[in-house]
Amino acid sequence: MAIGILLVGGFGTRLKPLTNQTPKPMLPVGGLPVTEHQLLAAKKAGINTVILATSYLAEVFTPYFGDGSKWDMKLLYAEENEPLGTGGAIRNAASLIDFASTNEEFVIFNGDVLSGHNIAAQLDFHRLNQADVTLHLIDVADARAFGCVPTDSNGKVLDFLEKMENPVTNAINAGCYVFNSSVISQIPAEKVVSIERETFPQLVKSGRPVYGYNEQSYWLDIGTPAALFKGSRDIVGEGFLAGLGSKIGENAVIAGGTSIGQRSRIGANCKINNSIIGDGVLIGDGCTIEDSFILHDSQIADNSKIIGKYISPKENLPISLQ
Ligand code: GTP
Repeated sequence: MAIGILLVGGFGTRLKPLTNQTPKPMLPVGGLPVTEHQLLAAKKAGINTVILATSYLAEVFTPYFGDGSKWDMKLLYAEENEPLGTGGAIRNAASLIDFASTNEEFVIFNGDVLSGHNIAAQLDFHRLNQADVTLHLIDVADARAFGCVPTDSNGKVLDFLEKMENPVTNAINAGCYVFNSSVISQIPAEKVVSIERETFPQLVKSGRPVYGYNEQSYWLDIGTPAALFKGSRDIVGEGFLAGLGSKIGENAVIAGGTSIGQRSRIGANCKINNSIIGDGVLIGDGCTIEDSFILHDSQIADNSKIIGKYISPKENLPISLQ
């Protein structure tokens, strides 16, 4: 069965300050890290071995995911001392196994995407076309903010176009790729390489079979604070969700798709709306919290008013999210 590679080593600059202490893929949405949602999706598609390609704050992943046995999966870690870019990271991660002599495909996931698409169907489409690479493509209403990916009527990719005012198609790269191992051999080792700007355009230019698997399904890039909150609300729904061992005080009103992690305590008479609250958080009585991100293990005094802020136990003062 195919082997998964999760690209989780980026700096996540657009998500600052949320990524000051937490790598973007470890930020919780709907109570679980983005990476955990992706592992569950990979497992559903029959992928049981996954390599995490880490770099920035690499040490945060292992204590949470371990060897993967909790999910009945096998997890390996490939750490880059300096970020190698998306292509360099794939090459480095695949080197953990003997990729040149395997017939298995690799399924690569951008570590910051929530997607409900059918990964098993993407793999089938790849095999049917005897492709080198098959990208998941998604149609967006306005492709101007993205590079677009035109294909022919069979799904063969014709070009990778940079952002433009009049995109020739609404189909964009959705950040999940099936790779044959032969393609990985072509990525130079120990070099910074961008898969999107170098590897894909080069393959298409040299006439290799690169295909787009277009499936409209739930899809969200959680690259900005607004998108991260939306992703969490989409999972939680209208009300709120609280993890195992969390306790909510009397008369507390929690709404707007708020998620609360495990072992957290919310005081009496609190009003909480559209917020993400981590594990082991202690919130005093009578607090108002709106549009805010409270990192794991934070403590908040009684009657605090926190609106549009990021709070962590290490950074003393609330930081504005605007
Ligand atoms: P921004 O700095 O906000 O653009 O975020 P980012 O650094 O995460 O970059 P981007 O959104 O382009 O990255 C897409 C995915 O690839 C994310 O899941 C990143 O974690 C991952 N990624 C980006 N660069 C690297 C890298 O050099 N090494 C590894 N291992 N992963 C990377």
